[in-house]
Amino acid sequence: MMRCKICDSKTQTIISLGKMPVSNAFTKNPNKKEYTFTLSVVFCPKCYMAQLGEVPKPEVMFNPNYAFFSMTSRIMGEHFKDVADEIINRLKGSKDTFVVELGSNDGIMLQHIKKAHIKHLGVEPAENVAKIAKKQGISVLQKFFDDKVAREIEIKHGRADVIFSANSLLSIEELNRTFEGFALLLKDNGVLMFEDPYMYDIVTLTSFDQIYDEHIFFFSGHSVKELGAFHGLQLVDMKHQNVHGGSMRYYLKKGSNNKIGTHVKKYIDLEKKAKLNTIKGYLQFRDKVNKICTDLKKTLLKLKKHGYAIGGYGATSKSTTLFNYASIGPELIDYITDTTPTKIGTFTPGVHIPVKDREHFLQNKPPYTLLLAWNHQKEIFEKEKDYRKNGGKFITYFPNIKIW
Ligand code: TYD
Repeated sequence: MMRCKICDSKTQTIISLGKMPVSNAFTKNPNKKEYTFTLSVVFCPKCYMAQLGEVPKPEVMFNPNYAFFSMTSRIMGEHFKDVADEIINRLKGSKDTFVVELGSNDGIMLQHIKKAHIKHLGVEPAENVAKIAKKQGISVLQKFFDDKVAREIEIKHGRADVIFSANSLLSIEELNRTFEGFALLLKDNGVLMFEDPYMYDIVTLTSFDQIYDEHIFFFSGHSVKELGAFHGLQLVDMKHQNVHGGSMRYYLKKGSNNKIGTHVKKYIDLEKKAKLNTIKGYLQFRDKVNKICTDLKKTLLKLKKHGYAIGGYGATSKSTTLFNYASIGPELIDYITDTTPTKIGTFTPGVHIPVKDREHFLQNKPPYTLLLAWNHQKEIFEKEKDYRKNGGKFITYFPNIKIW
């Protein structure tokens, strides 16, 4: 039985996806034995947090050259420009303002804060991306944020008006320490803004491949409200974002008497209606996941039987869950195309599908391509419009199998 990582209560199992390799463990040597762990999601009936049961040790998941460059996606670039604009607007008219970002990556958001001449600090543990940001003149502290680091920042730079984080809090197992740090570092009238994939979207869309080692927490209005309250932070607003298949941006402030935006009630009510405040709301999800995996495998087998080549698009972390849980390997997917230099020439974790560059895809033009980087669908369909014009078809797999 797993205990809740936030409040230590007994949890209930939502789904178990069996033995899994580490999602980002692309390997050059497919004969080498891989580290595996049991991937499951559990629910805490007390503080409503959905979370991984077992989490692999951070040293097997992240290395200093963790391959993630956020600047490579145009739409994400626009998204983070909007975030920066919102922060800049919020700070207009205030003096001595200070913005801190956790997981600032290659500086995709902070570059705009820097251009606006606002004092800022990115906190980023991955050396390769931290270096890229520093080269552009962005201030970066190459550390893993926790309560101790928060104290260090406070002493050196003072407290923050805005703390922002995107797609990183969900990966921090000791999240209580992170929130302790937020409570320490935030000015009394400051705001914590963070965004991550939204559990309501994952359940309603059945985007179960969002479940992998690095996604430890699946936030909802219910769980963030409780988590914040444990640390003296009040959930004051929520704004839905159409990125990563549906994300939620949460706004939290110190104290318990803040003005609450109407969206908080709207989303909390929506979650209640879907019964996401009890295990009941999650049980159908499990059946839907199994149906998708069976249907997808059937579809791919049928296409193969008819002699069609099938490619994959985007060697995502998400695809590690899909392929290993549904037992789909190189016998069904010939290769996956990806533009990330460190992934090209490797094999995917567990099932070992080869990863090839885009050039290979453009020359090879498989009649069918499974869209694994579905969170970039719009951008990829635009980029590959010739492929589609010439008869190439993309396959997506949730909420149902669809051929485009
Ligand atoms: P990402 O969105 O980070 O998903 P995950 O968190 O599940 O890994 O990864 C997208 C992957 O898709 C990344 O490896 C880059 C690749 N990609 C392309 O190869 N071409 C593209 O045009 C886009 C948008 C992404």
